[in-house]
Amino acid sequence: MNKHPISFTLNGKTVKTQVEARTTLLRALRDLGVLSVKRGCEEGECGTCTVLIDGITQKSCLVLAMEVEGRTVTTCEGLLAPDGELHPIQQAFIDEGAIQCGYCTPGMVMATYALLERSPDPADEEIRAALAGNLCRCTGYVSIFRAVKKAAELMKRPEGAGKR
Ligand code: FES
Ligand code: FES
Repeated sequence: MNKHPISFTLNGKTVKTQVEARTTLLRALRDLGVLSVKRGCEEGECGTCTVLIDGITQKSCLVLAMEVEGRTVTTCEGLLAPDGELHPIQQAFIDEGAIQCGYCTPGMVMATYALLERSPDPADEEIRAALAGNLCRCTGYVSIFRAVKKAAELMKRPEGAGKR
């Protein structure tokens, strides 16, 4: 099948690759070695493949790779500091025990990131709504909920404020 060149910004760096017209962004990212983006249902139901496209959460299994031409894609890897330090959201998920198998975690982190960008001090209902598209089979959600609250606190602190 014919491949088409695409170029986009991935976690702050320009990426050029070739994809088939039918290739989803999820599959293209994994082919590029971005393994935080998980293949779950590939039907838009589970949220394990959640990324930000131009700052908006999207399920990458529902986006064709060719659609991100010229756009900006951010994955969980892109939240790390240049020295590899975890983002406060990533740290909060660890601190609150919100990771068991970890399959849902990158998607949860990206959904949390988008939430805290638009609402730094979210109400409980906002948190529930923001994570409604992300399924977790392990945790029962309580620890994830705590992690979002803790991340919001960490990001308000001076040392966390620059990590948005
Ligand atoms: S793999 Fe994309 S929503 Fe499940
Ligand atoms: S930690 Fe296993 S699916 Fe969420």
